[in-house]
Amino acid sequence: MQQVHDVPALRAVRNFWRFGRESVALVPTMGNLHEGHLTLVREARARADRVVVSIFVNPLQFDREDDLRAYPRTLEQDAQRLQAEGVDVLFAPDESVIYPHGARNSTFVEVPELGTSLEGASRPGHFRGVATVVAKLFNLVQPDLAFFGEKDFQQLLVVRRLVQDLDFPVEIVSVATKREADGLAMSSRNGYLTPEERLRAPALYRALLEVAGALKAGADDYAALEARALRRLAQGGLRADYVTVRRRGDLGVPGADDRELVVLGAAWLGKARLIDNVPVDRPASRG
Ligand code: PAF
Repeated sequence: MQQVHDVPALRAVRNFWRFGRESVALVPTMGNLHEGHLTLVREARARADRVVVSIFVNPLQFDREDDLRAYPRTLEQDAQRLQAEGVDVLFAPDESVIYPHGARNSTFVEVPELGTSLEGASRPGHFRGVATVVAKLFNLVQPDLAFFGEKDFQQLLVVRRLVQDLDFPVEIVSVATKREADGLAMSSRNGYLTPEERLRAPALYRALLEVAGALKAGADDYAALEARALRRLAQGGLRADYVTVRRRGDLGVPGADDRELVVLGAAWLGKARLIDNVPVDRPASRG
């Protein structure tokens, strides 16, 4: 595996692969890799001739300075894991490579509506940061395919929209959320949980599953389902941010005829802000 830190070296490898007509997959990450990331890497490996994994802790998508500073940086250990997975290139640029004029003084990409609700409302500027860095990585790596986890469901939709609106020639491949044995979605932020909080953390997934189960069984009073889930989270000692039922395609508020839904939730537990989601297909109404 080659480690690349600057644009000319990346372009050289990319051009070499283009010359050989090899397909290229990108797995964008912020490092501190866990099984969830490695699942994306394995899917990428299966679908493309060459795999590039990027590791860049993107300051533009953090709404709090302390969160950015605390974010775990484990490049050496990440590189070993990627090498073992047969990754071709690890692209690990410095901030000055991605933002030559400074992160806050950079040209940016913004996806309206999709990027300003839910996570975007709780973390102002977050999706502007994500969309900007993803656009930048697509231009740098020029992948044929790019892999994103379904755990960050809103991010996935933001990226799909960005690709559509700006005509990036990239196929976005989504990969199902990887979970611990007790259901907790894998995330770098789980490392912030104390042992006692870790035991309580699956309450978020359980609350979302309960809403999804009720929807499947035909319930349609979203407000009541959401309120019950919020109570469950409070009982479990989590400080809920939101639990909401949305249309899966665009995160709009579902109408009576919408069948493809997703239940999304976010909650604080100690220092960790957990997010998760459960897709659900509602049965056609009998009336
Ligand atoms: O999901 C992530 O790790 C990040 O948001 C991403 C897509 C790598 C952009 O920085």
